[in-house]
Amino acid sequence: MTRRVIIDTDPGTDDAIALFLAFASPEIDVALVTVAGGNVGLARTLRNARALVSLAGADVQVVAGADRPLLGRFEDAAYVHGEDGLAGVALPEGRPAERGIAADAIRAALRAAGPEGVTLVGIGPATNLALALATEPALAAHVAEIVLMSGAATRGNVTPHAEFNAWSDPEALSVVLGCGRPVTLATLDLTRQAICTREWLGSLAEAGRCMAAARAIMGSVPMRAYPAGFGHPQHDACAIAWLAAPHLFTHAPVHVGVDLAGETRGRTRITLGEGPARLLERLDSPGFFALLAERLARLP
Ligand code: BDR
Ligand code: CA
Repeated sequence: MTRRVIIDTDPGTDDAIALFLAFASPEIDVALVTVAGGNVGLARTLRNARALVSLAGADVQVVAGADRPLLGRFEDAAYVHGEDGLAGVALPEGRPAERGIAADAIRAALRAAGPEGVTLVGIGPATNLALALATEPALAAHVAEIVLMSGAATRGNVTPHAEFNAWSDPEALSVVLGCGRPVTLATLDLTRQAICTREWLGSLAEAGRCMAAARAIMGSVPMRAYPAGFGHPQHDACAIAWLAAPHLFTHAPVHVGVDLAGETRGRTRITLGEGPARLLERLDSPGFFALLAERLARLP
């Protein structure tokens, strides 16, 4: 089965790998890429998204969206992704972005969707998705599923409690969680099982320009020790892998809320055993990295 998806992203080193995985996966038909400020400012995330789409030879429109959260102050994660968002790896300038604004483009794509609907994949702050859904709530009926890399059940990565995407725009995340459609969450607890190591990078086959870019990007992100290995997590590719190879995951039904105030702002509250959401729990990490290697090798 091929699913039609909209990817909302903030590239971002791991977003870059997630986009490549999506473009290389026959299970996924990318209808639209929308972009928010997040890992770095919007001017840079947009440039990176355009470059990545063009490098992959994907025939997909890229549309700019929010440069800041619904409320609060914009803060980037250049300390992880570098000032350019791609860890210093320069890519050729991509095709220009489409005119217009992300929320409009998302609504137009939902309106045009067939009976099977469109899956929304959010791998950045949820601002664009929230703006689209809040301004025309009836369009949620055209959303097949929502898959988010967001939140943490245990430890955060920006504050002790909060994960970066959830913390960047918790109000937006709250809107998306409450839109009435099924949400699948790849939290930090899952994505910290997807540790990209030097050994795996060294094992990648020589292939085309996308593989070369992916290797350079992943090889330039700082590595450190995680319980699952020494390296860095491929957070966003987990959300895409769920759509391409769901057998790599275990999952459980949950209820998800998000704190909007105080020092736990951006913390996701995840209650197991109840609720309409699905928490991805265990990742078959060797299977995930085998999939990623095989798919990256398919790209130009
Ligand atoms: C998430 O935040 C960003 O830095 C990454 O691209 C990922 O989407 C991980 O917390
Ligand atoms: Ca991201």
